[in-house]
Amino acid sequence: MKRDFIHVSDYNKDEIYGFLDSALRLKKRVNDVNDDYQPFFGMSLAMIFAKPSARTRVSFETGFFKLGGHALYLGPNDIGIGKRESVKDVGRVLSRYNDMIMARLFEHKHMLELSESATIPVVNGLTDYNHPCQIMADLLTIYEKLNFVDNVKVVYVGDGNNIVNSWLNLASIIPLDFTCLCPKGFEPDSATVELAQNASFSNIKITHNVDDAVKGADVIYTDVWASMGQKEEASSREKIFSNFQVNSQMMNSTKKDTLFMHCLPAERGREVTDNVMESSNSIVFDQAENRMHAQNAIMLKILNKS
Ligand code: CP
Ligand code: NVA
Repeated sequence: MKRDFIHVSDYNKDEIYGFLDSALRLKKRVNDVNDDYQPFFGMSLAMIFAKPSARTRVSFETGFFKLGGHALYLGPNDIGIGKRESVKDVGRVLSRYNDMIMARLFEHKHMLELSESATIPVVNGLTDYNHPCQIMADLLTIYEKLNFVDNVKVVYVGDGNNIVNSWLNLASIIPLDFTCLCPKGFEPDSATVELAQNASFSNIKITHNVDDAVKGADVIYTDVWASMGQKEEASSREKIFSNFQVNSQMMNSTKKDTLFMHCLPAERGREVTDNVMESSNSIVFDQAENRMHAQNAIMLKILNKS
């Protein structure tokens, strides 16, 4: 049976911790110029992008290449998944040429359809619902910085979007202390909140009260107020979200060493100020780098190379 990577919650606790160990090992090997580890030699990865990307495209393409494989970029105007051709036909055709598919799509149900129709592993590179590779990179970065992940207190500030759903998915597998501080009407997916709350080992809070939500946070995390596909709402959302900006006042109201994280791209001056992005608490570029190492670990596992 092939294994896909569509939700972090498709994996058990040991597998999640296993990804962290494997990613750390791979990070060392990839950065060692004398190590020519090529587990993906002769393999090809088809990358479907229905939305724009910098990190996801470059980290997958470069990561797969550094481990010996070849990655193909299929942009929004190339194959027209779900438009020029049905999702299931694209899944079956790409399976005839490639060893793995990575896709960034709008609708989550299309990701599920792709995973069902493809006979090769499918990795989710973001949908409107979730972003599992990002959350694995985030967990890896927290592990590197704090030396632990269990019960880490993460306070996410902003829109209850695909990033938040992924944190909640993760909280249903490993113990997390996770708060989503968002404006009313911008809560994460309710079924996903329930899933995380039903995991008795995690502490999950959804709140609209800016005053004390960030107290004691190990990590303050934010993301854009309007995601891809919602950009026309960006200016109307600015008013609604104005109290939810991560700025120095917010950072000063928590611990001195609270880390700042953002999946990027950031809209500086909106969800986060320049000075927080540039502060010594900010680990956003380590986070971005770790996309590649976390994904390499995921690909190694689902291609049965680890
Ligand atoms: N964080 C992230 O997925 O970035 P891109 O949209 O640039 O790929
Ligand atoms: N929530 C953002 C994440 C980008 C990586 C979006 O979907 O646009």
